[in-house]
Order: sequence, then C-alpha cells, then structure tokens
Amino acid sequence: MASNELPAVIPQTDPRAGYLAQRAAIDAAIARVLEGGSYILGREVEAFEAAFADFIGVAHAVACANGTDAIELALRACGIGSGDVVFTVSHTAVATVAAIERAGATAVLVDVEPGTYTMAPHELFRALQRSLPGRPAAVLPVHIYGQPAELSALAEIARAHGLRLIEDCAQSHGALYSGRPAGSFGDIGCFSFYPTKNLGALGDGGIVATNDHSLAAALREIREYGWRDRYVSARIGINSRLDPIQAAILGVKLKTLAADNARRQAVAARYDAGLANLPLALPLRRPEATHVFHQYVIRVAERDALRDRLQAAGIATGIHYPVPVHRQPAYGGRLACGPSGLGVTERAAPQILSLPIYPQLPDEAVDRVIAEVRAFLS
Ligand SMILES: Cc1ncc(COP(=O)(O)O)c(C=O)c1O
Repeated sequence: MASNELPAVIPQTDPRAGYLAQRAAIDAAIARVLEGGSYILGREVEAFEAAFADFIGVAHAVACANGTDAIELALRACGIGSGDVVFTVSHTAVATVAAIERAGATAVLVDVEPGTYTMAPHELFRALQRSLPGRPAAVLPVHIYGQPAELSALAEIARAHGLRLIEDCAQSHGALYSGRPAGSFGDIGCFSFYPTKNLGALGDGGIVATNDHSLAAALREIREYGWRDRYVSARIGINSRLDPIQAAILGVKLKTLAADNARRQAVAARYDAGLANLPLALPLRRPEATHVFHQYVIRVAERDALRDRLQAAGIATGIHYPVPVHRQPAYGGRLACGPSGLGVTERAAPQILSLPIYPQLPDEAVDRVIAEVRAFLS
C-alpha cells in the first residue's frame, strides 16, 4: 500500500479508516437494516452468525453484545460458576477476568511465556498441582496481540484434568494454530468486535463459536433471558444480543478480513526488517501459528522515553497493557496466582510498546515510525 498523503499525526489504530475504506457498502448495509424494520436479532444477525461460523470453520456461532459477554456466556453455557476455578493470565485486558468473575467463578492467574506473552503451559501444569480456591473447571488462554497461545500443550493438560478449553480470541480473528483457526480448537472460542479489533464493528459486538450443538443451544438461551420459547425462561439468562446494524456492518467487513489481516502481516514484516539489529525485542512468531498482528508489540528497556520521543514526532503508540490485572486497584491482592508468581508478566508491563498498525496504514508511515525508533536507539 502506498499513499502520498501522510497524516500529520500517525494514529496507533484507526477504525474510521476502516469505515471509509468500505463506506458505500457499509452505508448501504445500515440503510438496509433501518428500512427492514427488524431491530433485534433476526435475519441480519443470523446471516452474520452463519458467515462467521463458516469463516472460523465451526458449526455454530452465537452473536452477543460484546467480547466480555462472550466469555461470560461461554462459561455459563459450560455450567461453570460458583465454586469453579478458571485458569487464565494476568497479561490481558481486564475484561477476561471480569467475565470470569461475572460468571461467578474464581480466576487463578498463571504466568505467560516471555517471548509470546501467552499462557505458559508448564505454569498451568504447576498451578494444577497446588491447592486451589475451588474445583478446577476451565483453562482460558488469551491469544494476545493476534497470535494463538501454545494450544496443543494447553489442550493436552486440559484433557488430562477434565477441564474445558475456552479461547479468548478477542485479538485473533483469522489467526491459525496448526492450520486451524483460533476459536475452533477448544470447546468454545470467544470474540470481541470492539471497533479497533481485526474484525471491528462500529460500536460494540461479540460472538461465541463452537462445534458443540448443546453448548450452542445453551448459548442462544442464555443470551436472551434463558428463553427456549419466547417469554418462557428455561434457565437463568441475561440480555446480550448483537445489534442487527452492527451485524450488517460486520457482514461487510468480514469479506475483507483475510485481506486486512494480510496487510497487517505486511506491516509487521516491514517493521521486522526496519527494526532489525537494534537493542529491542521484536515480536516472536510461533512456527506452528499464523500471527494476525492485532498489535505489533516491541519490548525495549527505555520504553517511556521512546514513547515520548515518538509522541513528540507525531507518532501515537499504545501499551497493552500497562497494569497487569492482578495489579489493578480493583483486583489487587485478591486474585490467586500460579505457584511461581507472575514474574514474566510483571517484567513485561514496563517495557512493552504497541507501534501503529492497522490495514490502512501506509508504508510511508511505517517507515517514519522505523526511522524515529532507529534514531532513538542507534
Ligand atoms: C483479550 C481481550 N479479551 C476480552 C475483551 C473484551 O471485549 P469487549 O471490549 O468487546 O467486551 C477484549 C477487548 O477489549 C480483549 O482484548
């Protein structure tokens, strides 16, 4: 991609550019819903669910209001709640842990691998040997930044201990592990359509993917008051429905997701080449995975000074995430952690930096970022 119009400030992400790239089709999709007269679930949501299930290669996709709800719905559909332990990571959006708690379960946080920032299987294994604050019920790895966690090792541990495997795919739409799409590996995959995600709505949205027919039926009931028949709650549910306007928009954007991911990978490859041989760590790629680069995260000792320098040069960056969940004021001190603590997580937080990346980012902007980083570190 090339453009002669470089923005004065390079944003870290730009969902508006994603809208403008498909403006006519998105506007037409919105008008179709408005004129159709059906504003809750209905055909638009069903059509998107079918298209997304097809994309992920699963039998069922059940759309909901956001990615946090997707995780809560997944846990509830598995019958996981009070008295149950769900293993996840602290190096994630707070949403992952918030959803576990909202389902009534107890989160136990295990450390991540230093190179990929995804759940370390040996840490999960060790945590399972310890006394736990409840019955071990599920493992919930986060495919952070767009790269799947070490799924085969995690699945093996989950199988050996009778745990559900629930994937947090909020950042990994279209990523692959051993040739299989993230979200199709475990019992359930949970996705967010927050506007900046690889597949982003123009508002909130989420979806749950599964091959299990009975889990899909449970998910459909729980997302709408537990209704099996209208107005008759067969179980306790919530209200978490995807808006049909967002479903129609997502239907348009799904068609370009593969191309958008390819462009993110090209941006990442350009950063890799341009930032080689500097005193910083580039993103590590798992050989058995396809990384879709929701974020391009470098690791550098003088992170804050580099960030200030980029900011002064008109380059926005992000930190995903500055405060691990177990250090958040609302959670600090009360979340159980794995036996070796969360040293890798804690050491990463002050050093990680997310560079600008989104499908419409021009090569010239990537080169400007590279030049500034090189000038700072050389
Ligand atoms: C890893 C992760 N999990 C869960 C979520 C929650 O998604 P949402 O913001 O749609 O509720 C997000 C996104 O913010 C996320 O990045």
